[in-house]
Amino acid sequence: MKIAIVGTGYVGLVTGTCFAEMGLNVICVDVDKSKVEKLENGVIPIYEPGLEELVRKNHNDGRLSFTTDLESCIDDVDIIFIAVGTPPDEDGSADLKYVLEVARTIGRSMKKYVLVVTKSTVPVGTAALVRSTIQKELDDRGLNIDFDVASNPEFLKEGNAVIDFMRPDRVVVGVESEKARKLLSKLYKPFMLNNFRVIFMDVPSAEMTKYAANAMLATRISFMNSIANLCEAVGADVNMVRAGIGSDMRIGKKFLYAGCGYGGSCFPKDVKALIKTASEYGVDMEILRSVEKVNAYQKGLLFRKFSLYYNGDLKGKTVAIWGLSFKPETDDMRDAPSVVLIRSLIEAGCKVRAYDPIAMDEGRRILGDECVYYAKDMYDAVLDADGLFLVTEWKQFRLPAWNVVKKVMNHPYIVDGRNIYDVEELRSLGFDYECIGRRFDK
Ligand code: UDX
Repeated sequence: MKIAIVGTGYVGLVTGTCFAEMGLNVICVDVDKSKVEKLENGVIPIYEPGLEELVRKNHNDGRLSFTTDLESCIDDVDIIFIAVGTPPDEDGSADLKYVLEVARTIGRSMKKYVLVVTKSTVPVGTAALVRSTIQKELDDRGLNIDFDVASNPEFLKEGNAVIDFMRPDRVVVGVESEKARKLLSKLYKPFMLNNFRVIFMDVPSAEMTKYAANAMLATRISFMNSIANLCEAVGADVNMVRAGIGSDMRIGKKFLYAGCGYGGSCFPKDVKALIKTASEYGVDMEILRSVEKVNAYQKGLLFRKFSLYYNGDLKGKTVAIWGLSFKPETDDMRDAPSVVLIRSLIEAGCKVRAYDPIAMDEGRRILGDECVYYAKDMYDAVLDADGLFLVTEWKQFRLPAWNVVKKVMNHPYIVDGRNIYDVEELRSLGFDYECIGRRFDK
């Protein structure tokens, strides 16, 4: 079996590479010529643990190739995955122009049966739109060629993408025909050895599953953030509450960590898109509107704590930031809490010194380097600082040499946005320490 993956972004590149690793012949297609050239040379455009090695290995072994020419490979393959971007429109809905452009190209060029699979996160109804777009091109050409459209949403997490793809909890596949079902069963067969399930369903349900999963996870986070804020007010400890409720099997332990808000390329975009889709059908997703509202509040929390601590007297203060990416093990800063915090600090007249193990270039791209000093290391960041914010819980921030930190800071004040430090320890070392929803005597 031979497959094509259109779009070498996060999802496309991981999908193509992992299928190649399972022995399939994979062609990855992208319109960006320089990206394709780099990939041919084993240079990948994103930071993702383990991915670059796999790309190189499979490319060298001849199972993974890259091209800008979709038309020429359409009749060479059995399955085409569409994994191009769906950036949010101004109103929050996913922009399908790239997805439908791929569908048009397929319809214009195909000469035999092909199974087209949508892998990008697309609103309910997109597979039907892809189908009608291909069909229209075939009608225009006066041809009657059989084809299928299926939906196979991706659940991988940034920073853990290769492992998630190789050992997923489940694979969700929406199909319309027995032929498509058989082809996709065959495709995922090598992964069956890992004992996971492929759940077949109808196409709209598969499309909805992706949004429902991300919206549910975002809801858990906003729920816990609200509980944390209440814990702080009533003198309870959110870590204790998490342990208490997480041991209920119905609730489960994962994704209950209070912090400074969720970010990334998926949760914010998908929650917005689901609210929008619902409103188009006259359904009010009240709960998700609240999830968004709580998240926006939470992203402003670190700055508010800092401002309260210094009674609003922030002008000229030096502030250290540990962590820029929206979560560890990625350089992705899309919708990251760090961006909201740093912009507020700059606006208040603070001097910002930031450090991130991987996302420094991305930081410069998004925040510029006029108002932010990009520190050489985590200790350089805290030099002369009146406050230190832990924003992303990278491993290297977990056990700092506190004596060094305290010595070089101007004032030993820490705001821990991820609750990773020990309250008693920091207090006994003489730090003024704040975190999210944990109990301690002020
Ligand atoms: C997410 C989904 O997990 C994945 O299944 C989907 O395919 C894409 O969206 P990702 O965006 O890579 O993946 O990151 P994830 O690890 O899920 O974290 C998302 C955000 O939630 C991060 O900002 C993280 O810091 C935050 N988070 C996560 C919390 O604040 N608390 C938690 O308990 C868990």
